[in-house]
Amino acid sequence: MKAIVCAAYGPPEVLRLAEVEKPRTGAHDILVRVHAAGISDSDSLIRGWKVPKVWFPLRLVFGIRRPRVILGAEVSGEVVEVGARVTRFRPGDEVMATTGLRGGGCAEYVRLPDGGRKLPWHSLIVAKPRNLSHAEAATIPGRAMLASFFLAQGGTLTGKHVLIYGASGGVGTFAVQLARQAGAAVIGVCGLKNLELVRSLGASRVLDYTNPSEQAGGPYDVIFDAAGTRKPSPLKERCRAALAPGGTWISVDARAVIPIAHLERIRDLIESGAIRPVLDRTFSPTEAVDAHRYVETGHKRGGIAMVFVP
Ligand SMILES: NC(=O)c1ccc[n+]([C@@H]2O[C@H](COP(=O)([O-])OP(=O)(O)OC[C@H]3O[C@@H](n4cnc5c(N)ncnc54)[C@H](OP(=O)(O)O)[C@@H]3O)[C@@H](O)[C@H]2O)c1
Repeated sequence: MKAIVCAAYGPPEVLRLAEVEKPRTGAHDILVRVHAAGISDSDSLIRGWKVPKVWFPLRLVFGIRRPRVILGAEVSGEVVEVGARVTRFRPGDEVMATTGLRGGGCAEYVRLPDGGRKLPWHSLIVAKPRNLSHAEAATIPGRAMLASFFLAQGGTLTGKHVLIYGASGGVGTFAVQLARQAGAAVIGVCGLKNLELVRSLGASRVLDYTNPSEQAGGPYDVIFDAAGTRKPSPLKERCRAALAPGGTWISVDARAVIPIAHLERIRDLIESGAIRPVLDRTFSPTEAVDAHRYVETGHKRGGIAMVFVP
């Protein structure tokens, strides 16, 4: 089968489309024909090994000299084989999933162990939302779960003033909608070209961090920095000062999150039309280098996907 592999740890140019062995399934596994794989900064972090030094032991998992795992932690596709002990899925089912720490999503087929939900090497698999394309669905699992996981730290959001910093990115577009869905008054922060998008997702007001005279407003009960610590701006500091006394500041980089739950609820919200993924661009497997370069601009709008079955 074809898969995206890395010739070394390094810049996007280390990526290759190569022929590799198709995965074999065990009794507790399903084999999914990948229609689309989400690509995010999580892939570029591993490819470029841009991680804290304390993560070095993880090279035992990802590969000592080069990433021996196939990248890709989010997929959408069709079940083509199920192991003897699998009861939840049948061939022909359309699913979206995270692959856990094992990666493997950027390939024509991925093996997903259906053994549980709480261990980093298990995958989290749910039925694909019926109202979405595979490319749209592939952008959901990781980013939506990060948004859901971190927003939950703000407690009950009903009636609160919630500011989402980085509202136009993969995590931010979900955070705006989930906070709105929870009954919060949502204020978004993004760049000029995305103000309309963020408004359309449910923000009552949108601030432009590229405008030097933009005021933070507030006070805010909860501020979620969905852009991350590597994306600072003077406005972010002004927002920090606009946190209400006793308010909660949440950073998407506060801790590494292994997706463990939330995906069924997100699927249901999407199928009911309450929230939607924002698909920025799609890439073919021959455009893996371009896809990673695009992610590394830090300005993707929602999510991007690599499409294996057009
Ligand atoms: N905790 C974890 O386990 C974990 C895992 C993965 C990722 N993360 C973190 O999550 C962050 C967000 O991921 P993502 O996929 O949502 O990123 P992303 O989609 O690449 O973010 C792109 C968005 O960031 C916005 N942006 C760029 N520079 C900005 C700035 N200085 N101020 C405000 N917004 C800015 C851009 O807005 P404009 O184009 O409108 O300027 C763009 O819409 C990552 O950067 C990483 O730090 C955490």
